[in-house]
Amino acid sequence: MIWRITLANPTIGAEEEKAALDVLRSGWLSMGRVTEEFESKFASMLGVRYAFATSSGTAALHLASLSLGVGPGDEVIVPSLTFVATVNAFVYDGAVPVFAEITGEDNLNISPQDIERRITSRTKGIVVVHYAGYPVDIESVLGVARRHNLWVVEDAAHAPLARLSGRFLGTFGDVAAFSFFPNKNMTTGEGGMVVTNREDLADRIRLFRSHGMTTLTWERHKGHAHSYDVVALGRNYRIDELRSALGLVQLRKLAENNRKRGNLTELYRKLLADVDDLKVPFIGHPGEPAYHIMPVLVPLGKRKKVIDYMRRSGIQTSVHYPPVHLFTYYRERFGFREGALPTTERVALSELTLPLYPGMTEDDIAVVVETLKEALTTVC
Ligand SMILES: Cc1ncc(COP(=O)(O)O)c(C=O)c1O
Repeated sequence: MIWRITLANPTIGAEEEKAALDVLRSGWLSMGRVTEEFESKFASMLGVRYAFATSSGTAALHLASLSLGVGPGDEVIVPSLTFVATVNAFVYDGAVPVFAEITGEDNLNISPQDIERRITSRTKGIVVVHYAGYPVDIESVLGVARRHNLWVVEDAAHAPLARLSGRFLGTFGDVAAFSFFPNKNMTTGEGGMVVTNREDLADRIRLFRSHGMTTLTWERHKGHAHSYDVVALGRNYRIDELRSALGLVQLRKLAENNRKRGNLTELYRKLLADVDDLKVPFIGHPGEPAYHIMPVLVPLGKRKKVIDYMRRSGIQTSVHYPPVHLFTYYRERFGFREGALPTTERVALSELTLPLYPGMTEDDIAVVVETLKEALTTVC
């Protein structure tokens, strides 16, 4: 299908091409100098002590789980309105997911009050997702965590450079993960980053990212080490120099691209303000969001027809997300059923994601809005 307006579109240009070519010509492709620079720039951008680039956002999340020592039977409180990787990453290590509700139709982020209600003697930690790049009420979540002695992981896949009270998302919890998948605010193709201020977690992340080995190929290449031991059952979750080179260029563009996403979101909101049958979440939300995606809520039972109408008009839309607890694997393994999370389930049935990326024009936004209005009048 050739779309007139796609859902997302990475901003890739001559600078990325040159950066990739420079790496190809350098003779060193696996993690090395370029990755070190990418990690150090990412860490200083956020003001965090440690950053480790990874092969994906999922790998970054799993390194968070491994570093925190998640094990069989540990209960971890998670949102259900997220990409499945948020939850899978902890289930890999035997965690039992305990799903908490979203706050409501205006705020699709996890509810700190509902988190606290779901705590048991087996609860070990809380995972939050800054949905669409809008800050979770993280101070309240940290308060709950402190009261019950729990760790907090931020899935900041949607939220690079977003802030709350002047502080970057991803720096509040014990550890945070970012994704650089092509639809994200910055991309390396596949790729991710795990960040922490805790030295003990950083030591474990370093080991688990690369087979549990005590030294890296790069360190041996530089002559800093000759041998290695294996002291943990690690993975290969490393990034490579090609992708780090893309990441360095994308990092330079991130603030400007987020600003463009913000302006386009404001325009959407203005044009959608008078549309009956439509709710626009996160208006007036606290903090400085990353504006990753543009979610709206259409009337229950109408979404499929709206999506089909938009598709016939050449406009790609999406759904963020089918709730994780109702996926077959999660139903069969943990016994979740409809009705477990009424607000999440209702919103998940009416959420529609409109196209949003920095290269969109104001005319593109107007076309999407007009088509959506037509779709709603036709189907409602
Ligand atoms: C909220 C969220 N968490 C985790 C991920 C996983 O990241 P990746 O696709 O880089 O593995 C994604 C994106 O794909 C995501 O949107």
